[in-house]
Amino acid sequence: YTITVDPDARGAAIEDTMYGVFFEDINRAADGGLYAELVQNRSFEYSTADNGSYTPLTSWTVGGTAEVLNDSGRLNERNRNYLSLGAGSSVTNAGYNTGVRVEQGKRYDFSVWARAESATTLTVTLKDAAGELATVRRVAVKGDWAAYRASFTASRTSNRGRLAVASSGPAALDMVSLFPRDTYKNQPNGLRKDLAEKIAALKPGFVRFPGGCLVNTGSMQDYSEASGWQRKRSYQWKDTVGPVEERATNANFWGYNQSYGLGYYEYFRFAEDVGAMPLPVVPALVTGCGQNRATDDEALLKRHIQDTLDLIEFANGPAGSTWGKVRARMGHPKPFGLTHIGVGNEENLPREFFARFQRFRAAIEAKYPDITVVSNSGPDDSGTTFETAWQLNREGEVDMVDEHYYNSPQWFLQNNDRYDSYDRNGPKVFLGEYASQGNAWKNGLAEAAFMTGLERNAEVVELASYAPLLANEDYVQWRPDMIWFNNRASWGSANYEVQKLFMTNTGDRVVPSEASGTPDVSGPIAGAVGLSTWATSAAYDDVRVTSADGASLLSDDFSGDASRWTHSGGGSWSVRDGEYVQTDEAAENTLVTAGDPAWKDYDLHVRATKKAGK
Ligand code: AHR
Repeated sequence: YTITVDPDARGAAIEDTMYGVFFEDINRAADGGLYAELVQNRSFEYSTADNGSYTPLTSWTVGGTAEVLNDSGRLNERNRNYLSLGAGSSVTNAGYNTGVRVEQGKRYDFSVWARAESATTLTVTLKDAAGELATVRRVAVKGDWAAYRASFTASRTSNRGRLAVASSGPAALDMVSLFPRDTYKNQPNGLRKDLAEKIAALKPGFVRFPGGCLVNTGSMQDYSEASGWQRKRSYQWKDTVGPVEERATNANFWGYNQSYGLGYYEYFRFAEDVGAMPLPVVPALVTGCGQNRATDDEALLKRHIQDTLDLIEFANGPAGSTWGKVRARMGHPKPFGLTHIGVGNEENLPREFFARFQRFRAAIEAKYPDITVVSNSGPDDSGTTFETAWQLNREGEVDMVDEHYYNSPQWFLQNNDRYDSYDRNGPKVFLGEYASQGNAWKNGLAEAAFMTGLERNAEVVELASYAPLLANEDYVQWRPDMIWFNNRASWGSANYEVQKLFMTNTGDRVVPSEASGTPDVSGPIAGAVGLSTWATSAAYDDVRVTSADGASLLSDDFSGDASRWTHSGGGSWSVRDGEYVQTDEAAENTLVTAGDPAWKDYDLHVRATKKAGK
């Protein structure tokens, strides 16, 4: 094919904000993930309402006598449960994944809220099966509820740490916490550094949060204080701000407990820290995500609309305003500069949704005319619901419509022209969620091809984010995902690399081009698994390719059959110790599966030894 490019022609302008990220607390993306807290179930609030397998002592082991109480002796109205620990007893927390992860030489801050009628000593230890991970700390406790703190320096690195608190006398405990000092940008109540840095490396133009289906959770239930802070409350931003010990935990839409330690303040702060525009989404009182209902409760609707106005004040209001004051007290007197807000997520009832959306929109525009209110088109990429939603959005002259779709890689290849025909004068598109179904190289490739179509239509497609962003490999509800992690490491998928390529190389303007033909993309994508080691050059030798768990590809995936792999680029490879090893100093080498093996996920790792002085 010939591609003709006219360097003087001017195509669509591409905004710096075009590519962003969508963070949803799915796959334990928050607790045990981006939120740096190392203690699981720190406030003893896990319950069967969150997940059938939970109890208030999930992730804790008791030595001696201890029980979780929910009575008037509690820390505060929102933090219902607390632990009553008997004299000479202890509790030990198992953290997330394999345990509490600590790194040698790093500082960790322990804190606990405690109450003891007579003077009591808490002994705090951090250890794993091999012994102590830090010097034991002792904390003297006496009197009514108060916060106590101690800090540790880890003497060893371990992924299997356990945090134990023993008490000499009877004591009540709540909010047992261990936080790494080293959080992203050293923020208090902050974010896990490696994960936040991987997101920051994308240079996102915006951060959409907190969901997804998550925002629709319980949005039709009463959420007044009078309802007793029962679980499956709606995801309400007001529940997620203020001191962490006063944030009620909730039953997450995705089937686990959600502490709200990572709340709206932290989301806004993170967006600011990565230089992105914050884009919160509020429920529209019409539940999609598997349910088809719309509320007719006028009082509830009005309350949610008011909450949305309050959210804008929390983000943008002066430090003296009611909600601006809450933000200022949390450490950010300066407004966060909110410009866009989403109302609703994937509603299946377009007419019901649009009627309620219009109520939110009118209230927001009346008070904050500069805010862009983002509508949506439901959960599909086409069909009657989708068409009706778009028709209503067009007729209603909304500013921007959020589209979502998860499809095969073939679909993405075949739909590169999706936005070529979208009305240039209609609502702009926010492609808030999309992914081809898989984390393999072919998926990244199909998404890359599709993204060229987004850019070509940048005058219509203003914002786009891959979804979901994060997945803890031991707690997965949804795949594929962009960035994977456990308690000790994180790694980007092929899709992550594609996003990074586009997000860190966004042009200012499209240069129109024409191709002499279009490849046939009707069949399944065939081809090879490829890996280029071009960075090896003369600076490295002994380049080895293994699968993610360190096992040799040869034995792992190809039954030791080296002939299934070929290389190009002039380098030499040989099999040594069950691994492919690059044996020369070629500037570039590509290792490719020779045949056309059935597609599956290959998580390839390259190990290379750097030469002295290089
Ligand atoms: O991204 C995962 C889920 O996919 C989101 O919560 C929802 O909006 C969509 O259906």
